[in-house]
Amino acid sequence: MLPTIAWQGEDIVMVDQRKLPADEIYVTCRSVNDVAKAIKTMVIRGAPAIGVCAAMGLALGASRSKATGTKQFTTEFQRNCELLAATRPTAVNLFWAIESMKRAFSEGALGGESVDQLKARLRAEADRIHDDDVASCRAIGANGAALVPAEARILTHCNAGALATAGYGTALGVIRGAIEAGRKVRVLADETRPFLQGARLTAWELVRDGIDTTVITDNMAGAIMRKGDIDLVVVGADRIAANGDTANKIGTYTVAVLAREHQIPFYVAAPLSTIDLKTADGSHIPIEERNPREVTHVGGTQVAPEGASIWNPSFDVTPNHLIAGIITERGIFRAPYTESLKRAFENPEVAG
Ligand code: MRU
Repeated sequence: MLPTIAWQGEDIVMVDQRKLPADEIYVTCRSVNDVAKAIKTMVIRGAPAIGVCAAMGLALGASRSKATGTKQFTTEFQRNCELLAATRPTAVNLFWAIESMKRAFSEGALGGESVDQLKARLRAEADRIHDDDVASCRAIGANGAALVPAEARILTHCNAGALATAGYGTALGVIRGAIEAGRKVRVLADETRPFLQGARLTAWELVRDGIDTTVITDNMAGAIMRKGDIDLVVVGADRIAANGDTANKIGTYTVAVLAREHQIPFYVAAPLSTIDLKTADGSHIPIEERNPREVTHVGGTQVAPEGASIWNPSFDVTPNHLIAGIITERGIFRAPYTESLKRAFENPEVAG
């Protein structure tokens, strides 16, 4: 399986997702500052991968600490948490992972652990977060496979694949799960302007896995649906509010509206770490705005004139009524989401 992010001794190595598919280059992070920069500049991206990376970054920052006493070590840890929390605002997995690391730290500190013991504890917690993410994706894949007909043409937007997680993927996990369950799947990958995660990353990892993949530009989705050539839409999520409203890559909302018009089921696939019960609905989800240059330039080539104003929101919100179901590691949750998502957290045994 594709190694999205891995330890190399005390360093963290990740494939540079800005360079794919032309170049497969690996970036080594030797400090928590390197990790923060990698997330901010999208060397690594995708909500679950951002969370895993932040957890590993906190473990790395701790392991490199020269602090001899727990007081200074605690101050440094808190500073590192703040640094990483400021990298990207929308993917709630980032804040979820930082909170998990803080809880692990507090448990150790309250138990009177030494600096070395706390370092080991943080490393173990980061490893757990990493491994749990892969396990969740595999469970999402197995659960989602049940929704896929024997022969299916599945449209996806952005990259919610192995590259966007610790491995296997969420939306692409459903596709992998369906293929493992014997379905014949053809994937239609939206290009996903402006950062081209669909054309560059989704197509790259699916083609590598030998999965039938066709890239379309974003403005072709309506035409292909009208032709009757899409059976199902599956996308990932950056943050799912308590009522099921879902923030995902810009353009997802457009796809959801088109799917509704053509009576095609539109599913969101995400781990529970992407569900944010503290955010009541989509209107409260912070939407990151990125550098205008992502819109004015494609690769290095300028495609919009100097002087034009640019709007570059990285995400949009799909309202819950357009979502046929939310595929998680604990099952598929359906409307009304306020009740079903709450139940998912209350009782670990509940399946959607
Ligand atoms: O800006 P990005 O590339 O981090 O946005 C990624 C997405 O929108 C993904 O669909 C989402 O994070 C889910 S990844 C499993």
